[in-house]
Formats: sequence, structure tokens, C-alpha cells
Amino acid sequence: MIGFMGTGKSSICRRVAHRLGMQHIDVDDEIVRESGMSITEIFDTHGETHFRQLESTFIKTGHPDFGCIVSCGGGLVTQEGMATLLKSKGILFCLHASVETILKRTSGNTKRPLLQVEDPQARIREMLEERQPYYSQAQASVLTDHRGIPEIVEHVIRGYRELVRLRSD
Ligand code: S3P
Repeated sequence: MIGFMGTGKSSICRRVAHRLGMQHIDVDDEIVRESGMSITEIFDTHGETHFRQLESTFIKTGHPDFGCIVSCGGGLVTQEGMATLLKSKGILFCLHASVETILKRTSGNTKRPLLQVEDPQARIREMLEERQPYYSQAQASVLTDHRGIPEIVEHVIRGYRELVRLRSD
């Protein structure tokens, strides 16, 4: 699962995995656990490039090849070749939300170093535009604005099953 910060990837994936009887793996959580540092500490101490390397290594080697739902940090898919790699491992899903919704969902949370700026709204707009070509490589996407978690979960499960069916035809 890919998508911008604040689109609900972790909460949705946790529920989807539970419903499908699969394991949920959150890439950020795994990186924090393995490094013993918070995301902010990693960015502050080693920089964003190092964080991207940790994300990339985790996707290449850190999780089982099947039976899991992986929620990726919002910038993971922006690395060269990453969307193709993710699609080779499973089904690539994307959650979307408007700038306003993302701002509402992320404001007050200090755990996202890239949004700790004077004008987070402008930053979100700018980053969303830059990242759109990557997010649009997903095989299915769900718009999360004005939708509750249960409804989004249903859409994801339906889309997932449909794609699995098409793949096995
Ligand atoms: C980032 C998104 C964050 C986290 C880090 C960088 C990004 O994850 O990986 O702060 O570049 O969009 P979430 O999308 O889960 O907030």
C-alpha cells in the first residue's frame, strides 16, 4: 500500500490484513524497531537519503514474499524502479486524499519531519504534485476523502480480490 502521508495507509492496512487473515507489516515501524531510532532521529542524524536506503533495503529483503499486507511510508515509492519492484512482489494499491484532508489529518503530529515547515499546506501541495507520477503507477487506488475507515477497507478488499482474480485467470 502506497500513498501520501495522512491518507490512512497504516490504519487501513491493519484492518485489511486482519480481515484477510494476513500479516500486516508497516515499513516505518519496522525501520524504527530495527534501528532503535525514531523517524525524526534518523532524518536528523543521517538524513533523508539514508532513510530512503533503509526503506529500499527493507522492501528488498525485510519481509516475506507472500501472505502479508505492507504499508509503505509516503515517499518510499518515489525511488527509481521502486514501483516496478513493488508490483513484482504483489499488488500495488494507493490511497489518495486532497490537500485539505491531508493537512487536517497530519496537523498537530510532529512525527513527520518533512511536514515540520512554516507552511505545511504549500509543502503538501508541492510534494503531492511531485509524487503524483509515482502514485499513479498503482494498479488500484481509493479516494479516502469523506469516507470512514470501514468503507475504505471494503473498497480495498474488493479491489484486491478483483485484481487477484484477474491475475489468476
Ligand atoms: C514520509 C512519510 C512517512 C515517513 C517519513 C517520510 C514521506 O510515512 O516514512 O516521515 O516522505 O512521505 P507515512 O506516509 O506513513 O506518514
